[in-house]
Amino acid sequence: MGKKELKFNSKTIHGGQFPDKAYGAVMPPIYQTSTYAQSTPGGHKGYEYSRSANPTRSALENSLASIENGKYGLAFGSGLAAIDAVIKLLNPGDEVISTSDLYGGSYRIFKRIFEKYGIVFHFVGMQNTDEIGKYITPKTKLIWVETPTNPMMNIIDIKSVSQLAKKHKILLAVDNTFATPYLQLPLDLGADIVMHSATKYLGGHSDVVVGALVVKDKDLADELYFIQNASGAICGPMDSFLVLRGIKTLHIRMQRHCENGKAVAEFLANHPKIEKVYWPGFPSHPNHDVAKMQMKDFGGMISFVPKGGNYDNAIKIVEKLQIFTLAESLGGVESLAGHPASMTHASIPKKEREKSGVVDALIRLSVGIEDKDDLIDDLRRAIE
Ligand SMILES: Cc1ncc(COP(=O)(O)O)c(C=O)c1O
Repeated sequence: MGKKELKFNSKTIHGGQFPDKAYGAVMPPIYQTSTYAQSTPGGHKGYEYSRSANPTRSALENSLASIENGKYGLAFGSGLAAIDAVIKLLNPGDEVISTSDLYGGSYRIFKRIFEKYGIVFHFVGMQNTDEIGKYITPKTKLIWVETPTNPMMNIIDIKSVSQLAKKHKILLAVDNTFATPYLQLPLDLGADIVMHSATKYLGGHSDVVVGALVVKDKDLADELYFIQNASGAICGPMDSFLVLRGIKTLHIRMQRHCENGKAVAEFLANHPKIEKVYWPGFPSHPNHDVAKMQMKDFGGMISFVPKGGNYDNAIKIVEKLQIFTLAESLGGVESLAGHPASMTHASIPKKEREKSGVVDALIRLSVGIEDKDDLIDDLRRAIE
């Protein structure tokens, strides 16, 4: 069977991979080199300088393209470097419609870096696609979707947004960091660009910072490769190797993240001291039906607000946790807890973040793959 026809759980291991040409190494060697010998100017074996391309990075880029059902993968030094490359497709005066509830760093690069180059950003609640239509002008060139959103776990209907984007010839980019291709495949749903903070579930072990883009269209890929090389925010060979290794277990890790996520979400929802739990697996979640349609399962990311909660008692809860580590980031094998208002989303003004529900008392959990009973006991102790 050709590798193209492999199912997802095989693609994570074999997709786009070939034994190394030199000695048949099954895992791509870490080609820790900046340059490559040439027999005559231009006489090289496909690689001339590692900013332009490196064999370990190519192996990762091929894997990324395979697992996202795309054709071209690009790996960057961080998720934000990948976002930076996408926005550099635009020109001054172009407009972007972005979801209003998104990772604070994405908001920061849009507002504080690119606005000063004349790119205009509109931040819009996207749970209802009709809302987006109101902001489309002839200058709109890109719609930026993050789903599930960070940290409010809102779900955006990728297919319906892609129909709107296609009608107006607007590019649609989806940040697939929270869901991963195990849960949802934005390119299959009509998106043009998939973006990842591969730092999270793709790497999966909290040991690397990497970003990724995947596209299907050759012209778009060429433009992005040009930006990747010209701006230079590539990821190194060692980091490429680590993410590639992480991807090989993505499917089994995600399966456990989903199982544990469900158990923790249900525990919190039934706890008398918890006011609200945000997790797309609940039938009461406003876009549960869309989540059911576009996602295979509901993931291990959960946010919650304690009853009568405020800034101080949210901090007290996260400080008391022992198995959940209080830390930035998410998507690793270990469970992490975060306080968005003071951590991941501190770069969004309080008034702005509270509009989308990121209140001072909100706590975000990245449920890991430990024993779920230990995770629940830890939360029980911290909440009491
Ligand atoms: C949803 C999302 N997108 C993008 C990023 C940025 O990625 P990185 O930290 O790898 O630059 C993050 C980081 O937390 C994220 O959670």
